[in-house]
Amino acid sequence: LVPPRVKIVEVGPRDGLQNEPVSVSTEDKIKLVQKLAQAGCRYIEAGSFVSPKWVPSMANSFQTMTKLREWKEKQGPEYEPLVLSCLVPNLAGLHQAIQVKAGEIAVFGSASETFSNKNINCSIDESLERFALVVAEANTARIPVRAYLSCVIGCPYQGRIPPLAVAQMAEKLLALGCHELSLGDTIGVGTPTTTIALLKELQHVLGNDVDKLAVHFHDTHGQALANILVSLESGIATVDASVAGLGGCPYAPGASGNVATEDVVYMLNGLGVETGIDLDKLVEAGDFICEVLDRPSRSRAGTAISAI
Ligand code: HMG
Ligand code: MG
Repeated sequence: LVPPRVKIVEVGPRDGLQNEPVSVSTEDKIKLVQKLAQAGCRYIEAGSFVSPKWVPSMANSFQTMTKLREWKEKQGPEYEPLVLSCLVPNLAGLHQAIQVKAGEIAVFGSASETFSNKNINCSIDESLERFALVVAEANTARIPVRAYLSCVIGCPYQGRIPPLAVAQMAEKLLALGCHELSLGDTIGVGTPTTTIALLKELQHVLGNDVDKLAVHFHDTHGQALANILVSLESGIATVDASVAGLGGCPYAPGASGNVATEDVVYMLNGLGVETGIDLDKLVEAGDFICEVLDRPSRSRAGTAISAI
């Protein structure tokens, strides 16, 4: 049994493009987000207010978000529900998000101590202190906060991460006041067995707060769709995906892109699950960005549909 409707969070313009070797112009990022919105995506992570020294490909996020905001305001009521979000690691990032009137921000922590240090240059405890300041100020500014939790199954530096450690960190992130928590299989090592074990532990520790969980699978070992299916069967109704399977994480060596949105939507259509997304238009958005990047799509469904 799977939920009748699933919320897709499109992370391609951020998680995807942050790790592509070709850096994408502001104009092309805007076009990509517009095409995704036209395909029916209503939650799009469009940028990242992190240090441009750490992630140069996200340096044009301020311009991209500003122009997208202006474009959104000129659209009709069907675009009102469109949420354009961005990653924020600290107060400096939040202040940029407030200036561009981001519809949502996302803080990002880790269940692995080493990954936390490599990715955001601080310990897990320090990150929670930083996020507490960010969430409090975002609440005052009335900006909803999503939280990511990385390395929920495995870490590129520490190996396997115990489900209990993940659940305890999830509890702390939610207690800060985040409305949604996305579970990141950052290096795509999960299988249905480890995914189910993790979700069971989370159900046990979080109780009713499991409704706030989303899943975020990178497809490094080709397990993402299977992991998503078992997550849906466990009651998860929010799924992150990246058009054309773009991306990876600059601080997770060996991580490949997220599961391709086209593949997720194709599977959900087959299951009779509503997403609000038009698959053909989504494939066009994927083809567009692959042309910009001059590389083939990593979406199997996208490639098959384009070939017809
Ligand atoms: P730091 O060096 O400890 O920061 O980095 P700092 O506060 O000491 O500042 C150092 C410099 O960065 C200063 O500039 C600051 O102004 C600047 P300088 O004086 O040297 O010219 N700075 C900033 N600039 C712009 N925006 C900001 C900002 N903050 C400081 N917000 C920091 C700490 C967190 C900034 C850094 O480590 C960083 O930017 N890390 C981001 C890494 C990242 O983006 N990783 C990828 C995203 S996470 C991911 O992909 C996983 C996910 O998809 C889920 C999953 O798959 O698991 C979400
Ligand atoms: Mg990711």
